Amino acid sequence: MSPFLLTRTLPEDATEAALRADVQHGLSRTPKSLPPKWFYDAHGSELFERITELPEYYPTRAEREILLDRAADIAAATGARTLVELGSGSSEKTRFLLDALTGLRLYVPVDVSESALTQAGHALIAERPALDVHALIADFTAAMTLPDTPGPRLLAFLGGTVGNLLPAERAAFLSGVRALLSPGDALLLGTDLVKDETVLVRAYDDAAGVTAAFNKNVLTVVNRELGADFDPGAFDHVALWDAGAEWIEMRLRSRTEQTVKVRALGLAVDFAPGEELRTEISAKFRREGVRSELAAAGLELAHWWTDREERFALSLSVVG
Ligand code: SAH
Ligand code: TRP
Repeated sequence: MSPFLLTRTLPEDATEAALRADVQHGLSRTPKSLPPKWFYDAHGSELFERITELPEYYPTRAEREILLDRAADIAAATGARTLVELGSGSSEKTRFLLDALTGLRLYVPVDVSESALTQAGHALIAERPALDVHALIADFTAAMTLPDTPGPRLLAFLGGTVGNLLPAERAAFLSGVRALLSPGDALLLGTDLVKDETVLVRAYDDAAGVTAAFNKNVLTVVNRELGADFDPGAFDHVALWDAGAEWIEMRLRSRTEQTVKVRALGLAVDFAPGEELRTEISAKFRREGVRSELAAAGLELAHWWTDREERFALSLSVVG
């Protein structure tokens, strides 16, 4: 079997230090907020996989349709020998790229979720004996160093995850990505598109309550890692469309007046009845916005592909 290598670019205790800092900062300010990367412990990664199968959650199916239709075009335009994927999760849709990229030597999935990387990595090497997989536990919002791998490299960032970054974070992220690329390398970016509000809100507030459970999982993570006493049942899941900012905002709304203790921080956090904690945004895009954000980072939009219903888009930029 081909080798599966797992590298941690974060020291073991960096995750806890970062979580402490984020919780301290996010729960002490008004309005309260927590960064989304803390959703993804093993249980959170599992819940996300269930989200991708929900009838209301169209982005995964729409992006899969584009990848199926366009993988050959992507392969022809890039000739990639290394595929790096940020926030790779289960790497499920990535298989279309792995199939189409005939000169591919190495796949580098990058994720904060060790459980997702291990599961996906072992499944892939079992399926594809000729492929080398070098998985990287890393935070793509921090400075990243990639292993020295054969070019040209294709860097994929799928799932619309770029929309989970705030505009200023997105600009910094895209510039950082540009700095990782050399001439001949390419960026493949998945973005969910602006559409009817009902369709959008349903995708983040499904009837079966899986997204609500996913949203509340961040409280369970803080309970476990920092000895907090959040009662997930004392919060309601809220998803709303901000028409001005063109993003979905996910919040947890306190049902009552309550005080939550975070033991590891010696912190007591008061919630007023109805007070909301922002856990995530999921920005939706238009072609012109994507083009200009890429341009601001020194990347030129070369291809723009959508699914037939124009719900989701994949953009390809090749570095000149
Ligand atoms: N690409 C997959 C998964 C998308 S969900 C798909 O399209 O279905 C977002 C993924 O990004 C999760 O696997 C999560 O663990 C990972 N992730 C979230 N924030 C991250 C961060 N700051 N650094 C690295 N990975 C992150
Ligand atoms: N990248 C996904 C998205 O923005 C993440 C996601 C889907 C998500 N559903 C969620 C994050 C619900 C928090 C809550 O579509």
